[in-house]
Amino acid sequence: MTILVTGGAGFIGANFVLDWLAQSDEPVVNLDKLTYAGNLETLAPLQNNPRHIFVQGDIADKALVDSLLAQHQPRAVLNFAAESHVDRSIRSPEDFIQTNIVGTFRLLEAVRAYWNSLPNDSEQDDKSTFRFLHVSTDEVYGSLGATDPAFTETHRYEPNSPYSASKAASDHLVRAYHHTYGLPVLTTNCSNNYGPYHFPEKLIPLMIVNALAGKPLPVYGDGMQVRDWLYVKDHCSAIRRVLQAGQTGEVYNVGGWNEKPNIDIVKTICALLDELRPRADATSYTTQIAYVKDRPGHDRRYAIDASKLERELGWKPAETFESGIRKTVLWYLGNDEWVAHVQSGAYRESVKTQYS
Ligand code: NAD
Ligand code: TYD
Repeated sequence: MTILVTGGAGFIGANFVLDWLAQSDEPVVNLDKLTYAGNLETLAPLQNNPRHIFVQGDIADKALVDSLLAQHQPRAVLNFAAESHVDRSIRSPEDFIQTNIVGTFRLLEAVRAYWNSLPNDSEQDDKSTFRFLHVSTDEVYGSLGATDPAFTETHRYEPNSPYSASKAASDHLVRAYHHTYGLPVLTTNCSNNYGPYHFPEKLIPLMIVNALAGKPLPVYGDGMQVRDWLYVKDHCSAIRRVLQAGQTGEVYNVGGWNEKPNIDIVKTICALLDELRPRADATSYTTQIAYVKDRPGHDRRYAIDASKLERELGWKPAETFESGIRKTVLWYLGNDEWVAHVQSGAYRESVKTQYS
C-alpha cells in the first residue's frame, strides 16, 4: 500500500512525511511544486530511502496527478499543499486562489476519477477504504471576541483574509465532493503550528531567527492578538489518527489548548534565548522587541475546541507549550545551516515582514 502526500516539502507536510516513514513501512509519494516554501533540504534524511518517492509538480496539473494515481494506486491522498502565509495573501492573493482553490479543485477531480475506477465488491475493497484527507486551518472560522467560546466544528465559516477565504473555499469543495459524489473525505482544521523546519516568515521562527541576528522583533499592533499553538508533531499524530479512524464526511478540529497573546510568545522566546544563547552585552533579547504597524484586517483571536477529536478518536497532544517551544528554540539553535539556506536567494528576496 502507498499514500500520496501533497505539499510534503513544506513545514507541516515534511514533518508528516518524516514521521510517517519513521513509523511505517508504507511508501509515500510526495508531490510538491517546490515554491519558496518547499525545501528538499528538509527531506535530506530520506534521500536514499526507496519508500520516499518525490515528484516535483503542481496539484493543479490534473494530468500529472492522474498519472501518479494510476501508477502508484495509493490507498489515501493527503492534501497539505497550499499557499499558507497570511501576510503574503494580503500583498498578493492570486497564488492563493490558484493553488488553494483551483489546485484543490483539480486534485479533487483527479482523485474522484481514480476513486471511481477502484474495485467495488465488498466493504473492505479499495473503493470503500480509500480516503482523501484535506488539511485545513482554524482561520476559516474567523475571529473571536475575548470571551467567546472556542471554535467547534459547527462554527460558521467567516474567513477574513485572502488566505483564510481561499482555504474556506477549498474546504467547501471537499465537503461538496463528499455530499455530491460520495468521495470518502476527511477534513482537519488546525490551529497555529510551530516546531522544526518552520519558515522564518511566520511569527515563532521569525522571532528566533531575528533575535539571533540582532534584528528587531516586529510585533504587529499591540501584540495582544491571541492564537492557539500546537507543536507540529502533535498535528502530524492527529492527522495519522484521523486517517486511521475518522468518519468519512466528518470535520475534526485540531488544537493544543494553548491560547497565548503574541507578545507573550515573543517574550517566552526571548527568555529561552537569554538562557540558552545570552546576548554578548548580557542584556535581554526583549530589548529588540519593536511594535510595528498592524496587519490589515488582523484577526484578534483564534481558539480551537479539539474535544471531538479527543472524545471520538482518543487523540491528545503530547507536548505542552513549554516543552514544545523549548524544543523548537533548541532546534533553531542547532540548525543554523538550514536557516541560512532558506533565507538565501529567491526566498530572501520575497520576504517582507512589515506594513507601511
Ligand atoms: P508551507 O507554506 O510551509 O508549505 C506548503 C507546501 O506546499 C510547500 O512545500 C510548497 O512548495 C507546496 N505547494 C504550494 N503550492 C503548491 C502546488 N500548487 N502544488 C504542489 N505543491 C504546492 O505550509 P504549511 O505551514 O506546511 O501548511 C501545510 C498545510 O497546513 C496548508 O494547507 C495550510 O493551510 C495548513 N495549515 C497550516 C497551519 C500552520 O500553522 N502552518 C495551521 C493549520 C493548517
Ligand atoms: P503568523 O505566524 O503569520 O500566523 P497567522 O497569521 O496564520 O496566525 O502570525 C501569528 C501571529 O503573529 C498573528 O497574529 C500575526 C502576528 N505576527 C507579528 O506580530 N509579527 C510578525 O512579524 C508576524 C510574521 C506575525
